[in-house]
Amino acid sequence: MITRRRFVGQAGLLAAGSILPQLPARSSVSAPSAVPASLNASTLTPWVDPLPLLPVAKRAGTRPSPENSAVQVPYYRMPMREILVKLHRDLPPTRVWAYGGSFPGPVIEARSGQPVMVEWANELPTKHFLPIDHTLHGAEADKPEVRTVVHLHGGRTRPESDGYPEDWFVSGKSGTCFYPNRQEAATLFYHDHAMGINRLNIYAGLQGLYILRDEAEDALNLPKGKCEIPLVFFDRMLRTDGSLEYPTSGDAKAPWVPEVFGDAMLVNGKLAPFLEVEPRKYRFRLMNGANGTFFRFSFGDLAEFHQIGSDQGLLAAPVALKRLSLAPGERGDVVFDFSGHAGQEVLLKSDAFELVQFRVAKSAASADLSALPATLRPIARIPESQAVKTRRLTLNENLDGVQNSMGMLLNNTPWHMPITEKPALGTTEIWEFANLTEDTHPIHLHLVRFQILDRRKFDIYDYQSKLTLRYLAPAIPASPSDAGWKDIVRVDPGMMVRIIVPFDGYAGRYVWHCHLLEHEDNEMMRPFEVVGS
Ligand code: C2O
Ligand code: CU
Repeated sequence: MITRRRFVGQAGLLAAGSILPQLPARSSVSAPSAVPASLNASTLTPWVDPLPLLPVAKRAGTRPSPENSAVQVPYYRMPMREILVKLHRDLPPTRVWAYGGSFPGPVIEARSGQPVMVEWANELPTKHFLPIDHTLHGAEADKPEVRTVVHLHGGRTRPESDGYPEDWFVSGKSGTCFYPNRQEAATLFYHDHAMGINRLNIYAGLQGLYILRDEAEDALNLPKGKCEIPLVFFDRMLRTDGSLEYPTSGDAKAPWVPEVFGDAMLVNGKLAPFLEVEPRKYRFRLMNGANGTFFRFSFGDLAEFHQIGSDQGLLAAPVALKRLSLAPGERGDVVFDFSGHAGQEVLLKSDAFELVQFRVAKSAASADLSALPATLRPIARIPESQAVKTRRLTLNENLDGVQNSMGMLLNNTPWHMPITEKPALGTTEIWEFANLTEDTHPIHLHLVRFQILDRRKFDIYDYQSKLTLRYLAPAIPASPSDAGWKDIVRVDPGMMVRIIVPFDGYAGRYVWHCHLLEHEDNEMMRPFEVVGS
């Protein structure tokens, strides 16, 4: 089968119950001696910085709606700039790229049915500070180094506002997007999507949350205000001078690496922060903003908490959990009740990594009137009979000992090949992903929300060599955590994972891809086209 000389994906390690992610070998070839040494993040004192609460983006006026010029819609201007931030009390400031002066970016607060417009303005330097691989498609040496385009992840957005990877713009330019918000409440996020360098732009800091609310959710009386806290998680490798380190292959001409795992676990852009809380219920909107790391969250000593939402909003009912796994790009909305922990310290962890220290006050300033309702919203399961078409799509990896050889593919087809997936607008399809690789790939489709049908183990060898599909086990239905509306689905090695997708919204060209950013940048992305009538 596929032989590989690289390190094992962390997903595999986690699945095997192992603890620490392995770090890729760091290059000595491309690092001149002037570059400071890599930092061991565990040497920094934890819990000395307060958790930063993400700022809310401020409107810069209104603009006529592109759908109806008689209607004015709220307008935001979001500059992208290079700034210095303190990741930890004892580290020198770190150069990052930020939206709206914040790392991660400010939260855009929106409501269902109320559109907004955002002007994304590239005011970055013209040189990149992370290692571009010019052998990757779309990042050739004749392209400008610094290119950006912004995608609203999970947004039901027209194609011209969706951030197509090739629609990038350079420093001094901007792109204005219209977000109709014709969809239910959910934790969405915006991030860079520029062809061939999106892993570097996001690593530099270009991502932020977009919280969509609606009346149905308001009526549930979930914890809100200071008891509703968005938490964006991502790991980085740092150097002793505080600078971001992005690993390289050792080949200066082809520095791309297949996955990136750091040991500095940042929460809202801070390393090992603390938060003072009251002994009452809190709602945490968890978002995995890592390039390649899977988080597996737990509170304290596996204290019970409730998941109330996933990628595309609320679940049908709260799910009691002790651990919640999120792949890069996935969101998990959870409620944790600190009332049984008055006067204590509770850690939020991901396996052996300690991420946040909650310092619980001895008593609450006022009674907790928020609720954790027994049901959250109706989610009708889509019957399979509704699908007009089933597509089988393979996830492939052909590293063959050559690290940078167009390794990752969807359906064995590179990005630039003609579009093969053309669902009709308003129809429902089943997409089955057959993972022929040794990694878990979180697969994301733009525009749509979908439901996970099931996951089923099959024989990879038979599939590849005899072209026959032989299942090795019964199908496993979506877990309660995964049974709501999703926009990312985890596909484990050797699994056939089926999703059912209503192609609602708009006709036009979109993309689907692996949300491990290093894979996405190296051909694990394909266009699809929703065909209008
Ligand atoms: Cu967050 Cu194209 O994705
Ligand atoms: Cu992948």
